[in-house]
Amino acid sequence: MKFNIAVLPGDGIGPEITQQSVKVLKAVADRFDHEFNFEEAEVGAVAIDKLGDPLPETTLELCKKSDAVLFGAIGDPKYDNDPSAKVRPEQGLLRLRKELGLFANIRPVKAHESLLHQSPLKRENIEGADMIIFRELTGGIYFGEKSTSEDGQSASDLCTYSVEEIERVAHLAFKAAETRRNKLTLVDKANVLETSRLWRKTVTKIAKEYPEVAVDYLFVDNAAMQMILNPRQFDVILTENMFGDIISDEASVIGGSIGLLESASVGNENALFEPIHGSYPQAAGQGIANPVASVLSAAMLLDHLGLKTEAETVRMAVDLSLKLNVCTIDINKDNHYSTERVGDFLESVISDTENHIVNKENLSLGQTTII
Ligand code: IPM
Ligand code: MG
Repeated sequence: MKFNIAVLPGDGIGPEITQQSVKVLKAVADRFDHEFNFEEAEVGAVAIDKLGDPLPETTLELCKKSDAVLFGAIGDPKYDNDPSAKVRPEQGLLRLRKELGLFANIRPVKAHESLLHQSPLKRENIEGADMIIFRELTGGIYFGEKSTSEDGQSASDLCTYSVEEIERVAHLAFKAAETRRNKLTLVDKANVLETSRLWRKTVTKIAKEYPEVAVDYLFVDNAAMQMILNPRQFDVILTENMFGDIISDEASVIGGSIGLLESASVGNENALFEPIHGSYPQAAGQGIANPVASVLSAAMLLDHLGLKTEAETVRMAVDLSLKLNVCTIDINKDNHYSTERVGDFLESVISDTENHIVNKENLSLGQTTII
């Protein structure tokens, strides 16, 4: 089949990790006889530097006409350390989410068997954890009216939600729960926030349409604690924009590295796939960034295009790399592989139609040989 994929590498480690995903997708196209057309565009700090705009019109147009968007990372310390900057790289991503109508951000979190020892959390607490976070992505405090008083002595960010905004993401989360363990946890702060009370009311109502799904409710502070104490209790988590941002970074500790967590941002017409991690500017250009979160995001992209076997093949390659410790330094401290070498390995596993066994010895000698 033929698909057009927009590639937005962005800032920091974005370009080097995205390059590995494109390599992997090209291997998938070759093996399964598809035609993927990749077109690159700027976003974030690089786009500000070049064009003065974190989301240039040409980038937005490209995304709109593509079948899917592969996104790298966004952010640059020169803006982080300058609170008075008027234009910021993150605005590019936020506007892109809004313009493309990407109202649901889907973040799967799993304790990989081969990486249990990597997590600072106790093995017995995280073993078997397997959840999926549905984060509302185009509403709430991220997008409410913002202001700073003239004298600079006060500031405000408004948090608003409508029933419709809650319903559309809630339906996706309930449907996902039906295909999993039939449990949905709404994370909110309904003891304090009016918007959270609207979430509870709306979700309670929608729950009647999904009688198989057991719903429970947790305040976000308690949820943050439960995530560390007993993450196995979670199946599908549904939450608003900012709580979802925070608890998904927290949840990544279960997986052993934030460099492993992929995400899909979907709407009615468009879809964008990006790692949950940031631009990690300290590592940019050094070849040490973990490409797996981006590659697994590419697997979600394949799923979205209806290419299930292809997506599974990519996941299988990633599992093998984790099992054989063909990993970057965040995971493999003693004998690590570069970003590019991990990408090469994944590419060769995907291209290995004969399903040969990977020879670990040859790998450690520096050849991604498949025998
Ligand atoms: C994320 C990121 C973004 C967010 C930033 C870069 C704006 O942290 O995708 O989780 O807060 O949504
Ligand atoms: Mg985040």
